[in-house]
Amino acid sequence: MQTRNLIGGQWVGALSGREEPVNDPATDEQIAMVPHGGSLDARAAIEAAYDALGGWQQRTANERAKLLHRLAALMLERQERLAVLMTREQGKPLAESRGEIGYAASFIEWAAEEGKRLYGEIIPASHADKRILVLRQPVGVTACITPWNFPAAMITRKLGPALAAGCTMVVKPAPQTPLSAIALGELSIEAGIPAGVVNIITGDAEAIGDELLSNPVVRKLSFTGSTGVGKLLMAKAAQNLTRLSLELGGHAPFIVFDDADLDAAVQGAMATKFRNMGQTCICANRFLVQDRIYDAFVGKLLEVVKGLKVGRGSDAGVHVGPLINDAAVQKVEAQVEDAKAKGARVLAGGCRWAGPAGLSNRFFQPTVIDGFTDDMLINRQETFGPVAPLRRFTTEGEALRLANDSIYGLSAYFYTRDAGRLMRVAEGLEYGIIGANDGGPSTVQAPFGGMKQSGFGREGGKYVMSEYVEIKYVSWGGVGSA
Ligand code: SIN
Repeated sequence: MQTRNLIGGQWVGALSGREEPVNDPATDEQIAMVPHGGSLDARAAIEAAYDALGGWQQRTANERAKLLHRLAALMLERQERLAVLMTREQGKPLAESRGEIGYAASFIEWAAEEGKRLYGEIIPASHADKRILVLRQPVGVTACITPWNFPAAMITRKLGPALAAGCTMVVKPAPQTPLSAIALGELSIEAGIPAGVVNIITGDAEAIGDELLSNPVVRKLSFTGSTGVGKLLMAKAAQNLTRLSLELGGHAPFIVFDDADLDAAVQGAMATKFRNMGQTCICANRFLVQDRIYDAFVGKLLEVVKGLKVGRGSDAGVHVGPLINDAAVQKVEAQVEDAKAKGARVLAGGCRWAGPAGLSNRFFQPTVIDGFTDDMLINRQETFGPVAPLRRFTTEGEALRLANDSIYGLSAYFYTRDAGRLMRVAEGLEYGIIGANDGGPSTVQAPFGGMKQSGFGREGGKYVMSEYVEIKYVSWGGVGSA
């Protein structure tokens, strides 16, 4: 497979000639070298995207949709190969990688169809010989900076709607997982998407980000990643007032009320907590469980957590692979140690998993912690690891107060069988995505995005297209009368 940057339809190395390694997090083995691009590479990619823009915009939405459907079909045709590659560079279990390729392809398919529905409007004017036309036109050259936790889906979630709307794009994937991005670039060429419409550059995040946000040709940047980096990007976007979509960190509460179906709640908890080794922005980070069912819920959860198999993502039956890098494991360890020091009890796991020879030391045991409190790191910081901390609550009001006591506002979950409570709590939670009796709310049809310091903008559903279009108003005078 290719391991170089894609600029204007050409596979090229970094202009500096520098390269950086890509390692398998499960073994530390180097699996590829990719270009270490910088601002000049980013500029070349932006120019290529600009050169391709006119031709791409002039195609009809139907023509663009055909090419996008072809891309999605190729992704599904090569699902196994792409999944193996993803597990290799990211570490997630192969079944999850397969699922992610399907999820990634769904964003391309969905956007292809939504692009056909970018309707304009004619608004009645207050003058008889005037008409007011509203046009929805592509934003222009766009860019995205994407994370390592979903190496394919977080790209297609942005690329699909951008291309469907008639924009071109420069993609900057995470340094840990550039190979899945490059593979998508190869498929975009095979699908017949014209040169320069999709450009991919790997390398120095800061230099590339600076160029993307200081170059006035780039009209829109979509970013998925940490709140810290999101704030830096927002400050830099002020230079040219570059439009932004920011899908940032989360700290999801997971509330279990005493009228809940406990088996369903445990199933939901497992789905949201241990998916991708706990490394998703929407992973449950704090479990709030009502007094009366606390012990029963904990008992059921422990039974399932203790059955999880840790190991290399490519090995059969593995549920929990390695974390992405040393810093990730150290952060999880620090949160667990802090919780223990402040009085929490470890009911399962609690430390690294020592696997067979040949594996790295980046595996963390699925962990359950009883009795986290306000002052613990885990109550404030996103964990991004397989750790489930629990605490008790007594009333609905208390659960809502604890749940909303966070700077983040991406996702929240709760389980109840009371319809009135379901509506009250859904309305009361200050989060953009609510799983009400559902541990897996992610889907292409729905608007995905956060509030507060989890960012802004929505991806998915009909809502995503407005992130990639400008609304233009034409005041048409001199219409006259018959
Ligand atoms: C994310 O972690 O940012 C995305 C998770 C998802 O799409 O389910």
